[in-house]
Amino acid sequence: MLTPEENDLLCRVEGNAPMGQLMRRHWIPALMSEELVTDGKPVRVKLLGEELVAFRNSEGKVGLLDEFCPHRGPSLAYGRNEQCGLRCLYHGWKFDIEGNVVEMPSEPVGTPMKEKTKIKSYPTAEAGGFVWAYMGPAAEKIAFQRPPFSPNDSTQVSITKVKVPCNWAQIQEGQIDSAHSSSLHSSDMVPARVESAGATSTNWTRPSTDKAPRMISQVTPYGFRYVALRRPIKNAQTHDYARITVYVAPFISLIPPNSSYNVASVVVPADDTSTWFYFISWGGTDTVGTDEWRAFNHLVKGVDIDEHYNSRRTMDNDFGQDRDAMASGNFTGIKGIPNQDIAMWVSMGKIADRSRDTLGASDIAVVEFRRLMVEAVKQFRDGADAAIGTAEPRVPQIEIASYQGIVSKGTDWLTLGTQATEQAILNNMAKAAS
Ligand code: FES
Ligand SMILES: [Fe+2]
Repeated sequence: MLTPEENDLLCRVEGNAPMGQLMRRHWIPALMSEELVTDGKPVRVKLLGEELVAFRNSEGKVGLLDEFCPHRGPSLAYGRNEQCGLRCLYHGWKFDIEGNVVEMPSEPVGTPMKEKTKIKSYPTAEAGGFVWAYMGPAAEKIAFQRPPFSPNDSTQVSITKVKVPCNWAQIQEGQIDSAHSSSLHSSDMVPARVESAGATSTNWTRPSTDKAPRMISQVTPYGFRYVALRRPIKNAQTHDYARITVYVAPFISLIPPNSSYNVASVVVPADDTSTWFYFISWGGTDTVGTDEWRAFNHLVKGVDIDEHYNSRRTMDNDFGQDRDAMASGNFTGIKGIPNQDIAMWVSMGKIADRSRDTLGASDIAVVEFRRLMVEAVKQFRDGADAAIGTAEPRVPQIEIASYQGIVSKGTDWLTLGTQATEQAILNNMAKAAS
């Protein structure tokens, strides 16, 4: 349970809120690369309560600027994106991706105002289908790293995006909570006598019917990882079905893979009470294409979501819940794994009140997330620690991985899914703690 003060520390991200400032020490997934076309329509982007506009200039580079023109304040989302700059419609001032004013046609030629005026701009990078932005102090900017779900440019990364009208932390808790999948997603993740988790175009299979996993967690320099051990359908006496979920603070969760592809999610606060949620399949032997992935998740633009990624399933229409489908065997009556999650997250309230929770043994990951992030944000606020995940030694992001598989009982789960650098760092942490 968290006190109201701790809940605020965990959840609030706008302005000077410590968690928002902690997030600004990381490269933030701002939007999908596909949303920006060279010299095309600028896109409004809200991040950590800040209203920004993104555009791709004539050279293909991405600018991320204050949404509002510094002259008199209209939105640059209506601006003209032309010849390497974004031009305000009102009086024609034009800005480059670094925030310089390159033209000021309403002022006399040679005006010193042109050199003196700047619009706020943030550095960007692109990888893994995302535009990433650094919104923190320049002196503390860490080097950009490719994310865990995109080890190189040729990795297939299929992303579905939706805006969720609630706070980020209850979404992140859902992403790292392995126990809920056996209930909430039971019609989409069905038990089967398989050797390993599988995926078809309509559902996922898993080799266990166990709804009460035993969980063990391990803190890492970037966040934490934990294993959920279930009884497998086959060889339950000698083996465990191990699913390892990884939280890479503050934005990324790596969900256990299946035999066709890996799964990740990205959770980024737009403001205190709305969040960009991205659900990702990537890099497996049979990763589904983007269109197929969006159809599988029932998050297709124009059908399930509008052009601004707002879901058409809302509290007002009970998220499209179909009671007839439930009567004939569907567990939730809601189509699509993320849509089932969203119904849970949104119905918990704009910012979940964690003083009323009744936590049990299967909530270990949720407890670990809260403890880790509340501690991290307190230390960061008090100046005792750098933002979690930014201090050396850092595990290279592309070496961080989740895991799933049937293993013999007694296997050291700490070694499953880790590579050499991470294992060496974890060994040193364990030595230092003993
Ligand atoms: S308000 Fe933008 S140029 Fe005048
Ligand atoms: Fe879920």
